[in-house]
Amino acid sequence: MSKEILLLSGPNLNLLGTRSPEIYGTDTLEAHVARATARAAVGGFQLRHLQSNFEGVLIEAIHEARGVASGIVINAGALTHTSWALNDALATFAGPKVEIHLSNPAAREPFRHLSTLAGVVSGSIAGFGPLSYELGIDAVVSLLNQ
Ligand code: DQA
Repeated sequence: MSKEILLLSGPNLNLLGTRSPEIYGTDTLEAHVARATARAAVGGFQLRHLQSNFEGVLIEAIHEARGVASGIVINAGALTHTSWALNDALATFAGPKVEIHLSNPAAREPFRHLSTLAGVVSGSIAGFGPLSYELGIDAVVSLLNQ
């Protein structure tokens, strides 16, 4: 089994720290990724992170992870609510896949209540703020160790 986990961050997450801090907190994406990287290392895995504001870049990263990474953790941002193409791409990845959100989309505006990814991921973590990225890593590592 590969010791790599792919962590994907979608549109606008590069602005974490200054973007709606009352919802997403003040940690930068780099800070979330640093803690996630440390959590993965505790579990014996290397983390590869990619942030993109482009759906196709995220889809190609999933394609490239096939047969290379053992698991995927993804915060797809607003693409969570619109992208059936990301759903299709994730469905082609055989390993465990965990959807994460800093906020709890189910408790927010109605357009955030649909996750196009929910049906193809192993499970979801939402609403844990600064803990969500680390919990996502813990979840995928636990699934890989089963
Ligand atoms: C988010 C929730 C999404 O609804 C939103 O579009 C984001 C961030 C979260 O982490 O809480 O960009 O995925």
